[in-house]
Amino acid sequence: MSEPFVSLSNLTLSYGDTVAVPALDLDVVEGELIALLGPSGCGKTTTMRAIAGLLSPTSGRISIDGRDVTRVAANKRGIGLVFQSYALFPHLSAFENVAFGLRLQKLPEAEIRSRTEAGIATVGLAGFEGRKPAEMSGGQQQRLALARSLVMEPKVLLLDEPLSNLDARLRLEMRTELQRVQKKTGVTMVFVTHDQAEALALADRIVLMKDGKIEQLGTPHELYAEPATAFAAEFMGFENIFRAEGGNLVSDHGQMPLGFAAAAPMLAWRPSGVVVGEGPFRGTVSASSFAGGHREYVIETPLGPIKADAPIESAEVPLGESVAFDLPETTARALAA
Ligand SMILES: Nc1ncnc2c1ncn2[C@@H]1O[C@H](COP(=O)(O)OP(=O)(O)O)[C@@H](O)[C@H]1O
Ligand SMILES: [Mg+2]
Repeated sequence: MSEPFVSLSNLTLSYGDTVAVPALDLDVVEGELIALLGPSGCGKTTTMRAIAGLLSPTSGRISIDGRDVTRVAANKRGIGLVFQSYALFPHLSAFENVAFGLRLQKLPEAEIRSRTEAGIATVGLAGFEGRKPAEMSGGQQQRLALARSLVMEPKVLLLDEPLSNLDARLRLEMRTELQRVQKKTGVTMVFVTHDQAEALALADRIVLMKDGKIEQLGTPHELYAEPATAFAAEFMGFENIFRAEGGNLVSDHGQMPLGFAAAAPMLAWRPSGVVVGEGPFRGTVSASSFAGGHREYVIETPLGPIKADAPIESAEVPLGESVAFDLPETTARALAA
């Protein structure tokens, strides 16, 4: 692995006496898009603020591109910031919004012009130079905010939930757009989201955070296929998680015999890993909804409600009916306690 480009070592971040992030270690490789993923309040924004220089660490060290920047002012770190609120200047045109930072640097007019035009083209906004932010859609405003950061040629671009103000369709579109821009510019990106699908779709690596600590770090595929803990599994869509004790599956509701030898203290199944219509167990269908390619059931069982997806081709089980089901070994994910 190459030298880390951004390195957080033993970083502790606090608000007064409250420690939000205790002793975080994280290395980001140059040119990678790393996603900080986790529920609200787990310390994502706090970590970003520290990297940006907007929050002084209680202890620990931050380095960027081989330089210790722990005590370096925010505007001297070579960081670009894109937040959920775009903070564009409403009275300036798209062009002048993007050119703003370059003008502050008192660069020659010709350079300002060419870099601004290139930045606007990179985010696909050529032709919109004369528009005011209010005359642009939410997605276009977000692209403009991205262009404004990119033209400053930051070493690292920090994006804190940049897509969460957009509607679902635009969010998908901007995901692809961000990936394209990142591959094109090669800029190192730290991307914050609480949306696992967004992290899976965008990131080279995902840092799953819980209570200010790294719960698991890996590629999207690793996190999706091999979550190591119940928290990670739940975040990655394993909605059925049970303890395995003495040949039984156990929950707070009750227990059921397990048909195979458990390899771990906990086992988890995605809804798609539960078999509906055959198997050694029985339960009662308490909810059923059409979800396009499959049907989503909730089955009431001795373990409590189990979520199960059945192929749309299979016969629909009516609400209130008893149904056979299976929690097979082949689709079980073994988890540490
Ligand atoms: N300005 C603040 N003052 C005090 N506590 C804060 C402040 N900002 C965040 N926190 C606390 O720090 C923790 C992490 O918050 P934050 O980094 O904003 O989480 P996230 O971005 O993952 O939702 C939370 O418990 C939050 O309540
Ligand atoms: Mg946040």
